[in-house]
Amino acid sequence: MNTGAILRRLFFACWPDQHIRAELVARRALIEGCSRRRVPDHNLHLTLLFLGNQPQERIHDIQLIGEKMSGKVFDFCLDRYGWFPRARVAWLGGDAPVAARRLVSELTEAADALGLVVERRRFRPHVTLFRQVEKRPDFPVPEPLRWRITEFSLIESIPSRPYQVLRSWQVG
Ligand code: 2AM
Repeated sequence: MNTGAILRRLFFACWPDQHIRAELVARRALIEGCSRRRVPDHNLHLTLLFLGNQPQERIHDIQLIGEKMSGKVFDFCLDRYGWFPRARVAWLGGDAPVAARRLVSELTEAADALGLVVERRRFRPHVTLFRQVEKRPDFPVPEPLRWRITEFSLIESIPSRPYQVLRSWQVG
């Protein structure tokens, strides 16, 4: 490991437009009270693949991954709230359409081909709404949110700053 390397914390995600963001904010409000650690409006997103800390000099190659993706436009239908006990997050999520699963596997394979060490987790589409949620809240049933995915983005997480969209690509 090169200890002097500058590392960038990166992930591929679906980044909401203004309309979807407003819909997410409205659904977040319906479970207000499950924790004080609300995810700020400007950070709401749906992660496709978490890359973690990557050396700065790999950014160019990582961006090439985005360019190589094929695939089709698809819709997420976010129709349920949930809670991950280990991560202690409350989220809005839904099923993964085939085209979404394909996109995630293509991204994972391309990251593997670059030799990036990527954590493998089953893809469970969700938008985290609250953190530090200590026990499973009693969730209401949300009005389903249809989110048409026409593009995806490479995002950087920098401590104490809003997530930064580095680049976006059209799907298909
Ligand atoms: P989360 O929303 O369920 O917390 C940036 O941290 C994004 O990458 C978040 O959306 C987060 O999911 C996701 N992610 C996936 N694996 C992660 C990990 N091991 N550590 C931090 N974030 C991770």
